[in-house]
Amino acid sequence: MTPSPMYALADVFTEPGNVDPETLNNLGPLRQLAGRWRARKGVDLNPKAEGPERRVFIENIDFQAIDPQANGPQLLYGLRYHIHITTEEEDITFHDQVGYWLWEPATGLVMQTIAIPRGQVVLAAGQASPDAGEIVVTATRGPTEYGICSTTFLEQAFRTDSYKITITFHPDGSWSYVTDTELLVHGRDTPFAHQDRNTLHRVGEAKPNPLAVILAKRKSG
Ligand code: HEM
Repeated sequence: MTPSPMYALADVFTEPGNVDPETLNNLGPLRQLAGRWRARKGVDLNPKAEGPERRVFIENIDFQAIDPQANGPQLLYGLRYHIHITTEEEDITFHDQVGYWLWEPATGLVMQTIAIPRGQVVLAAGQASPDAGEIVVTATRGPTEYGICSTTFLEQAFRTDSYKITITFHPDGSWSYVTDTELLVHGRDTPFAHQDRNTLHRVGEAKPNPLAVILAKRKSG
């Protein structure tokens, strides 16, 4: 279900005072994602003319802390990410994706933005508690909030009706995801479930956000 908290709109301009500049201390359920990750055994089910294709893939993900962002009174903390996927057989890109994961501490809103170089963007959202063991965000085609926007070709040939990602954190520090992207392929009458899944292991620590680095330098200098 798309979250729809009611916002007090009396003053949409004034930004919150006393914002903690340390993003890594304010990421709520996203904290464990910060840093660099790798996995060798992802599984992708994608649409092909001759029927569904199942491919095993190698995935690298970089999540880096961004400075706190304010939309007037709405305060967001987050991570900028880049996913790069290749396969065992080929080093060329199999999937590339950039965006942000965002957390609004005041409401428990979690958002993921997705941009993929097929000419497609998504804003997915959900709710989570700061210590959640699982995060689920969803987007559907149509609404102007938390939607999916594609090229005309994709609209006609691979209409993307919904997107959902479930992230599960494991006690050993690794985490898994499952994405379900529903595509209506031209000429077919039932949607295709484009599904990806993987379990990521840490290969690099998180760096502090730019503002935190500047403030730390000022303090030590
Ligand atoms: C791990 C993540 C993903 C991988 C490895 C992956 C991989 C693929 C592959 C191999 C194809 C078939 C492409 C072709 O034959 O040209 C495909 C099709 C497609 N994917 Fe994904 N995908 C991923 C995630 C996503 C996500 C998150 C979205 C959108 C929210 C998405 C949207 C699409 C669409 C619309 C198509 C059909 C377009 C086309 O074939 O030209 N994919 N994907």
